[in-house]
Order: sequence, then C-alpha cells, then structure tokens
Amino acid sequence: MHIDLRGKVALVTGAGRGIGREIALTLASEGVRTVAMDVNPDHLAELHQVFVEHQFEGFQQVCDIREYSEIERVIQEVEHQYGRIDILVNNAGVASGGLVESLPEEVWDLNMDVNLKGSFLMCKAVLPIMKRQKSGRILNAASFAAMIPSLGGAAYAASKAGIVHFTRVLAGELGPWNITVNCYAPGVIPTDLNRFADRSPKEQKELLDNLSLRRWGNKQEIAHLICYLASDYASYITGTMIDISGGKLATQVPRMAYEWAANELNV
Ligand SMILES: NC(=O)c1ccc[n+]([C@@H]2O[C@H](COP(=O)([O-])OP(=O)(O)OC[C@H]3O[C@@H](n4cnc5c(N)ncnc54)[C@H](O)[C@@H]3O)[C@@H](O)[C@H]2O)c1
Repeated sequence: MHIDLRGKVALVTGAGRGIGREIALTLASEGVRTVAMDVNPDHLAELHQVFVEHQFEGFQQVCDIREYSEIERVIQEVEHQYGRIDILVNNAGVASGGLVESLPEEVWDLNMDVNLKGSFLMCKAVLPIMKRQKSGRILNAASFAAMIPSLGGAAYAASKAGIVHFTRVLAGELGPWNITVNCYAPGVIPTDLNRFADRSPKEQKELLDNLSLRRWGNKQEIAHLICYLASDYASYITGTMIDISGGKLATQVPRMAYEWAANELNV
C-alpha cells in the first residue's frame, strides 16, 4: 500500500508553527500543492524559505481565519492558481484559559472565534469548490479536551467539543457530494501552545503517566495521520473523531501497566 497525494491541492490553517507547520511540510513533501495560512507573517516567511529550499509546490498566505473577507481573498487566489481544493486542514487554534468565574469575555470569544468559528468560516468558503468537484477531504483539529476537559480550560474545551459535533453535522450534509469530514484529537504534542516540555520533571511525569504509551507524541505522527485521512485509503471514513493521543482515553491509570511490566522490561 502506498499513499499517493501527488498533484492534490491542500489548505492548512495555522501552518506557521507547531503541528500545522509539520502538516504543511509533510503534505508538500508528498507532492501536494500546499497553501499554508497563518495570522503570523514572520512564521510564514520562515516557512516560505523552507518551501523554496525544497522546491515544494504551494505558497503562503497571511490570513486571520476569524475574518471571512480574508479567507475569501485566499480562496480566490487558490482558485486562480490551481482551480481546485482537495484537502482542507483546519488546524489553527488557540488555548488560552482561566477559571470560569474570572475568565475575561474576550478570552472566551478568542477560543470560540479561532477554534470553532474560524473552522466554520473556512469550510463555508471552501464548500462550493469541493461540491463542484464532487470530492474533498475536510480535517478539523479537535482535542481530547473535547471529551475530558482540563480545569481552567472551559473555553478551549467547549470550542473543541463544538468541533466534534460540527464535524458530524457537516459530514452528514456533505455525504451526497462525496466529501468526507473528520476530526482528530492530538494528544500530548509539546509545542508553543502548551509548553509541556518546559514543565518540571515531576509535572511531565504526571502528564505522561496518563498515557498508555507514556511518551510525548511528535508532530510527524499527526502529519502522517493527516496524510492517511486525506488519501484514497480513507474514502469510507467520515463524521468521526480519530483519537491520536498515545492512549490517553484507553484505560484508567495506565501507569500501573508500567509498574507491572518493570521486571520483565528490566527498568
Ligand atoms: N499540541 C497538542 O498537544 C494539541 C493537543 C490537542 C489539540 N491540539 C490542536 O492542534 C492544533 C495545533 O496546535 P499546536 O500545538 O501546533 O499550536 P501552536 O500554537 O503551536 O500553533 C497554532 C497556530 O495557529 C495560528 N493561529 C492562531 N490564531 C489564528 C488565526 N486567527 N488565524 C490563523 N492562524 C491562527 C498560530 O499563529 C499558530 O501558528 C490546535 O488546533 C490545537 O488546539 C494540539
């Protein structure tokens, strides 16, 4: 089996850094004409250099996904250059939080506007093109916070829970056009969003003790899932959430398996 994405056209939001950057570079390295969107021009400029160095096809567009007019401008440019859109990865996200009682309204709005409304606006803009093609893949970044939220993360968790149901409804609406819509829940991937790798060894151990695989995930593992979900091999998967969190949701107290295995593993 060989995943072949060559010649497809993809849009990746939040591609300036973190998981989105890795997704954009991986798709581009697979021969996908990749349009990398981000609100941060400096990060996109750096990414542009990497595209040039590797002679990847595609381009970078500064775009705040909260603004429909900015999205429309990008879509027009993609239509003009490539005439189609095969893959939309709604990766852009923010994760600011605080206890509900003292949570500023602006912080609530920011999470909703970027994580949930921004994904909605992107889909709205891309749909006429995918419907015309009678094909397309839409992939939305959810989070395991959509199922097991963290304290102080009400706004983030609510926005990501919204993504799960948004995904399901859209998948249902787009079935007749052969467009699949799925979301994925990345687990603990240390990035600038969460700064997990900067935490104290004790805190890191506590976090890792929650994972069946007891290690941080890496961005490449998410990018590989995206390649699979965007490929022809995933043609019968729609309206679901793929958990890619190292088994965070698999069992209670996964640490115990490591204690039991310690003798056999000689650790
Ligand atoms: N890292 C994890 O372990 C993890 C876990 C669960 C879910 N996620 C989700 O995965 C996605 C990527 O996470 P990450 O850790 O790489 O985050 P990150 O903060 O490193 O990257 C997010 C990117 O989104 C961009 N962005 C923010 N607001 C934007 C806007 N209005 N318009 C366009 N771009 C905007 C940022 O500039 C940044 O480049 C997010 O949706 C996040 O919620 C990540």
